[in-house]
Amino acid sequence: MNFHILTLFPEMVLNGLNTSIIGRACEKGLLSIEAINIRDFTKDKHKKVDDYPYGGGAGMLMQAQPIYDAYLDVVSRIPTRQRPRVIYVTPQGSVFHQDMAKSLANEQDLIFLCGHYEGVDERVLEEIVTDYVSIGDYVLTGGELPAMVMIDAISRMVPGVLSNEDSGETESFHDHLLEYPQYSRPEEWHEKKVPEVLLSGHHANIEKWRLEKSIERTKERRPDLYEKYRKSLEENQ
Ligand code: ADE
Repeated sequence: MNFHILTLFPEMVLNGLNTSIIGRACEKGLLSIEAINIRDFTKDKHKKVDDYPYGGGAGMLMQAQPIYDAYLDVVSRIPTRQRPRVIYVTPQGSVFHQDMAKSLANEQDLIFLCGHYEGVDERVLEEIVTDYVSIGDYVLTGGELPAMVMIDAISRMVPGVLSNEDSGETESFHDHLLEYPQYSRPEEWHEKKVPEVLLSGHHANIEKWRLEKSIERTKERRPDLYEKYRKSLEENQ
């Protein structure tokens, strides 16, 4: 899977995504991540990429031309005939979630557009964006961190990126449940013992205990999610 990030801060996204699991997946050729510097495409002789908004108001807007030309450059290098999805990361988008990560992981190429300043000229968004996505109801200074968050979540759903193929499915949010608590050595730490059942080697009992704990935890920490879990149980009856 190939990620193409249109940004004014290419080193920020590349530095953030070239380590650990995602970095290794890139080395293995399972993923590629390129950052395209929007400023490289401006036709302004002072390399300007922003200007005042018509009608007045606070701050500057990113202009259409450099973004559009950066986008065309990416598209010209993508071999598929199909137009790739272009995600504009914005607090005005639908809120990102695990199912979205899973479904986006099926794409061959994804383009992310990272905004800055007070936003982007609407006309270029109309022209190129296919999905408006937010990472939550708060406002960040730019789109780079949200794009990195989404790329991380999508990448780990790409087959082969996680060493254990299953673990993307069994953890939090699968079937609307949060993950159960986990323990490693030693068996006792700060006078806290690892639950007996986990030492028993009895797999059916362990699974049962884990499901109970997942339900308990979801009910307590995420009542909204627990409601979804309860409803899906009802529907499957
Ligand atoms: N840009 C600024 N804030 C954002 C958010 N919460 N989600 C996505 N993009 C953003």
